[in-house]
Amino acid sequence: MRTTPTIRPVTPVIGAEVEGVDLGALDDAGFEAIRDALMAHCVLFFRDQGISIESQKGLGARFGELVVHPNDPGLEGHPEVMRIHADEHSVRATGERWHSDVSCDPTPPMGSILRMHTVPEAGGDTLFANMYAAHEALSNHMKALLEGLTAIHDGGPYYREVNRLIGRDDGGREYPSSEHPVVRTHPVTGRKALFVNQMFTVRIAGLPPGESEAVLDFLFRHVQRPDFHCRFRWRENSIAFWDNRCTQHHAIWDYFPHVRSGYRVTIRGERPA
Ligand code: SIN
Repeated sequence: MRTTPTIRPVTPVIGAEVEGVDLGALDDAGFEAIRDALMAHCVLFFRDQGISIESQKGLGARFGELVVHPNDPGLEGHPEVMRIHADEHSVRATGERWHSDVSCDPTPPMGSILRMHTVPEAGGDTLFANMYAAHEALSNHMKALLEGLTAIHDGGPYYREVNRLIGRDDGGREYPSSEHPVVRTHPVTGRKALFVNQMFTVRIAGLPPGESEAVLDFLFRHVQRPDFHCRFRWRENSIAFWDNRCTQHHAIWDYFPHVRSGYRVTIRGERPA
């Protein structure tokens, strides 16, 4: 029997809840439905998916090659699986500012799949923002200014700050740094999306520092507009699957000292065009 999931938009702009699908046993029809829904809604949410780490890796691998995080050792025996965890001992939580995952990489991730197995009673929501909508909402003057510009995305400052906070010695390692278009064209939908973020984008190439700072500051604030957003309330065994090429996300750490814990796999993308 073919799987025909039910897709319910969360807002008209971004996000959809997908029902009637078992992500641990996805047939070809289910896979195609999810791939198409992801292109249409940018981030998908699933409930009651108590799948194993192997199944989560298998799911991600159907969409592309899984990548190892440049600053996270991964799970023992599963280097491509990142543990997302905060508890009463934590001094930080992953993803606490607007970003697109590992955008400092020369081929930044196409998508990320996060399953939460433990959630606080309240809080720990994740915000998602639509970067097509963010681009479309700019004036034609601003669009013309950004067209053709590139920006430097550097993993060093953010990852070193994380390591300092958690007391991890990075042994002086080098982190990826890449130059990407400020506005990228999505390789599947052909739509234009804003591609700069607060976590990794350090400057716009070819602009004097003051102009670069002013433009980035405006764009980082622009991304925070609530009409580009949806907010996901996690439950145990919820999964979120987002397209990093046309979204940003922000994990809210408002539940200290409670525990929030899950696993993320990240799927390699292409060089932004
Ligand atoms: C992340 O992948 O940036 C973390 C997202 C989250 O914890 O909700």
